Amino acid sequence: MTAQADVMHPLIPRDVKFLVFAASLRAESLNARLAALAAQVVSAHGGEVDFATMAEFDGPSFNADLEDGHEAPAGAQEMYRRLQDCDAFIIASPEYNASMPGMLKNAIDWVSRFRPQPFNELPGLLLSASPSMVGGNRGLWSLRVPFEHLGARIYPDMFSLAQAHHAFTAEGHLADAELQRRFIATIQSFMDLVEASKHYPCARTAWIEYLGERLDPALDRVE
Ligand SMILES: Cc1cc2nc3c(=O)[nH]c(=O)nc-3n(C[C@H](O)[C@H](O)[C@H](O)COP(=O)(O)O)c2cc1C
Repeated sequence: MTAQADVMHPLIPRDVKFLVFAASLRAESLNARLAALAAQVVSAHGGEVDFATMAEFDGPSFNADLEDGHEAPAGAQEMYRRLQDCDAFIIASPEYNASMPGMLKNAIDWVSRFRPQPFNELPGLLLSASPSMVGGNRGLWSLRVPFEHLGARIYPDMFSLAQAHHAFTAEGHLADAELQRRFIATIQSFMDLVEASKHYPCARTAWIEYLGERLDPALDRVE
């Protein structure tokens, strides 16, 4: 099966919406290419995509003095609005000095000040692309920390594309057929989890039990 054919599965609508963006401002961003491929795979497998750019969410450095009596910067407001409007998010993030880009952490810090805090219980999938041999994977481990601190349900598997400057075809797919297959499988698995957590009462109940909260008889069964 070719890389192209892998993306073209039959469409089964799932009623799940994914905010997808790359945490890079660079015009030729490798992570933006990976995010675009992720968006294509989500759409091809029945998900709705809200594709964003980091430029829409970027803003001034966080300063608590700016909070007093002022509205949050436009980029933070936009990120908050888009997060509230989705069921899950997918970020393709560069690795800067073995960690996440400062502008992404800055955006997370601003958005964490909104109430309700929008990352709480929101499923997220982390991707990275880098010219290096480890594909920016260390940056994703650092990115898990603020997200999990904020209550986001970060998917255990992460996809890091090594030697990303050589990895894409002219059409934007992964040239290596096995990598393309793994990429699609990772996104499909994440989509299955998001769909289950949104739509199936048994999955929601399982989460409530795990948290030690009281059960709701109305949810404690599969219709
Ligand atoms: C300040 C800075 C630090 C970087 N640190 C790392 C690093 O620690 N690991 C790595 O794999 N690449 C590192 N890179 C290279 C980036 O992975 C590379 O520039 C990548 O293409 C950036 O992502 P983008 O193409 O989506 O903009 C760094 C680049 C910059 C500008």
